[in-house]
Amino acid sequence: MSALLEVKNLKKYFKTPRGMLHAVDDVSFDLNSGKTLGVVGESGCGKSTLGRVLINLLEATDGEIFFEGNNVIGMKKKQIKDLRQYMQIIFQDPYSSLDPRMSVSEIIAEPLRIYEVCKSNDELKKRVQELMKIVGLTERLANAYPHELDGGRRQRIGIARALALNPKFIVCDEPVSALDVSIQAQILNLMQDLQKERGLTYLFITHNLSVVKHISDDIMVMYLGNMVEKCNTKALFKRNFHPYTKALLSAIPIPQIGIEKRRILLEGEISSPINPKPGCRFASRCIYAKERCNSEQPVLREILADHFVACHYVESINIL
Ligand SMILES: Nc1ncnc2c1ncn2[C@@H]1O[C@H](COP(=O)(O)OP(=O)(O)OP(=O)(O)O)[C@@H](O)[C@H]1O
Ligand code: SF4
Ligand SMILES: [Mg+2]
Repeated sequence: MSALLEVKNLKKYFKTPRGMLHAVDDVSFDLNSGKTLGVVGESGCGKSTLGRVLINLLEATDGEIFFEGNNVIGMKKKQIKDLRQYMQIIFQDPYSSLDPRMSVSEIIAEPLRIYEVCKSNDELKKRVQELMKIVGLTERLANAYPHELDGGRRQRIGIARALALNPKFIVCDEPVSALDVSIQAQILNLMQDLQKERGLTYLFITHNLSVVKHISDDIMVMYLGNMVEKCNTKALFKRNFHPYTKALLSAIPIPQIGIEKRRILLEGEISSPINPKPGCRFASRCIYAKERCNSEQPVLREILADHFVACHYVESINIL
C-alpha cells in the first residue's frame, strides 16, 4: 500500500527572543490512506505544530512532506491552495474556530465559496443541506448562530466545514477534548463512520489515551519536538519500550475493580525546547539516563517489525 503522506525529517522552529524554539524536530513517518495515526504527548511537545505544518497552515523550517507522492515543501502558492482542499483540520474548540457572526449555513458554505465549487446559489444551498445531513445537523439549524448551539453541534459544524471540499486527509486536533464525555462518543463515532464511508485519513491529536487507543491504527509518542516511539496501537498498549511512553501509559486507569496499576511519576525538570542541549531531551527525567544520553541524541530505530523507538537504553537491552 502506498502512503498518502510521507514525512521526512520534518522540522519547525520558532524564532523567540531567547533563541530558536524547536517545536517539531526531525520527525519522519508514513501514513497510509484510510488510516488513523494518533499523536500523543504532554502539552507543548509539538502536536499541534506538527498538524499545522502538515497541512501548510505553518511553513516548515526543513524537511519533506510528500502528499500522494508530491513534495509539498517548496510548492508555489497556487499549487498549495489547490492541494489544501484535500487537507483539512478540525479544531479542539469549535466555538473559537467558528466565526460568531456567521450562521451555520454560511460557515459550512464558506470553503465552497472560496474554492468556487458550486455553479449556482441553489447548488450551494443543496450542498450545504447535504453536508448538514451527513454530520447529523437538522435543517432547521441552518440559520442558527454558533452561540445558540451546544458543543457537540458546534463540533458537527466544524466537521461539516472540514468535509465540504471532499478532503483526503484531516488533522483532528483534540476534536473531542472540549466536549462532555457523553457527547465525545457520538462525535468519535461520527468521525469513524465518515472515515469508513469516505476513506479518510486522520492525524488524530489528543491528550486522552483511551480515545487514542480506541480510534488509532498507529500511535506516535512525542516528547519535546521529537518522535520517541511509534508503532501499531494494539502492539503499543501490549508492549512499549521508551521510558517516557511507559510513564505516559501508566497514567491510564484500568477499568476493572481490584486491579491496581502503578503510576510512574515523572520527576526532574523538563528541559527547554529553546536551543535544546545535545543529547536526549528526556534525560533530565529518565531513570535510565547514562552519560551518553547527555551528549548523544538517540536516533529512531526499528527495534521490532514496524515498532520504532529512540532510546540508548532500549537499544542496549535484548528485547527479544
Ligand atoms: N507561533 C509560535 N511562536 C513561538 N512558539 C510557538 C508558537 N506556536 C507554538 N509554539 C511553541 O511550540 C511548542 C509546541 O507547541 P504546540 O502548540 O505544538 O504543542 P502541543 O503539543 O499542541 O501542546 P498542547 O497539548 O498544549 O496543545 C511549545 O513550546 C509552544 O510554546
Ligand atoms: S536515551 Fe537515555 S535518557 Fe533518553 S530515554 Fe533513553 S535511556 Fe532515557
Ligand atoms: Mg495543541
